[in-house]
Amino acid sequence: MSAVPAPLPPEAPGPDLRVDLGRGLVLPNPVGLASGTAGYGFELRQLIDLDRLGALFTKGTTLRPRDGNPPPRVAEVRGGMLNSIGLHNPGVEHVAAVYAAEFTRWRVPVVVNVAGGNVDDYLGCLDRLDAAEGIAGYELNISCPNIANGLDYGRDPVAAARLVAATRARTNRHLMVKLSPNVTDIAAVARAVEDAGADSVSAVNTYVGMKIHRGIRAPVLPGRGTGGLSGPVIKPLALAAVAQVRAAVSIPVVGVGGIMDAGDAQEFLIAGANAVQVGTATFVNPAAALEVLDGLLALALRSGIGRPPGRPGGAVRAVPPAGIEPASTG
Ligand code: FUM
Repeated sequence: MSAVPAPLPPEAPGPDLRVDLGRGLVLPNPVGLASGTAGYGFELRQLIDLDRLGALFTKGTTLRPRDGNPPPRVAEVRGGMLNSIGLHNPGVEHVAAVYAAEFTRWRVPVVVNVAGGNVDDYLGCLDRLDAAEGIAGYELNISCPNIANGLDYGRDPVAAARLVAATRARTNRHLMVKLSPNVTDIAAVARAVEDAGADSVSAVNTYVGMKIHRGIRAPVLPGRGTGGLSGPVIKPLALAAVAQVRAAVSIPVVGVGGIMDAGDAQEFLIAGANAVQVGTATFVNPAAALEVLDGLLALALRSGIGRPPGRPGGAVRAVPPAGIEPASTG
């Protein structure tokens, strides 16, 4: 069974911004690190105080180790970047046997992002991870655009529901589903996974994009030449997706897509997200997520949201009231 992350101690300074995502997963605050932007946290821990964050969403983890796609795997574009990593990871056995033991010593809740090519892959991962302590929940990755069939579940509400129902029957830990924006109707997929038993959804994974090298008259990235687009360039698209998903489901929504500062995070909360993930910004500034958190804490103090320390009561939804900040500039 899972180790439920410890709530903030009552004497913790500042407003209480805990977010209850359901089934025992209570984030100490609404700011997490997005999957694929911090590996399993070990390198970033050497640079920042990871334990202050709301959650760490790990790199996509598969049943067998994967070497990933050939280089180059990333390419900068105006306002963001493309990645085609190909789910490079050490495999679930290593994560469960070696990494999870470390996670038990961390205060930050670690949510393992799980990916697979078929239902049995996902179930195999969950079975192995469920036997390990130190894991706060799972983020089912049905939205990786960089591997063969990576979007099969994410693009089809029926297939997504089948996967979620099978995994729901297998684990009592929190199940979040990471939605793809590369679909006609993201709300339909969100509704399908909610009906099938998902506890929450994260929205959105990257958008399929391409960068062309004019000199060689070919895409910069190998293979099909496409990668997942992330960074501030996708923020307005991601906000629209979050609003659509929020209107479609009643389970918590975790917003992700181009968050660079606390103002961006606030916009996702206003659009209906219960919490956020910071991703690409971490590549520019390893402390970006902490700065987003500090900015939200400052906003909370100014506006009086959040439960003041020392007062009893449940976790609150961290949505600042309208009008406390100037309108967004981008
Ligand atoms: O290529 C990758 O590993 C990307 C994974 C994802 O977008 O989920």
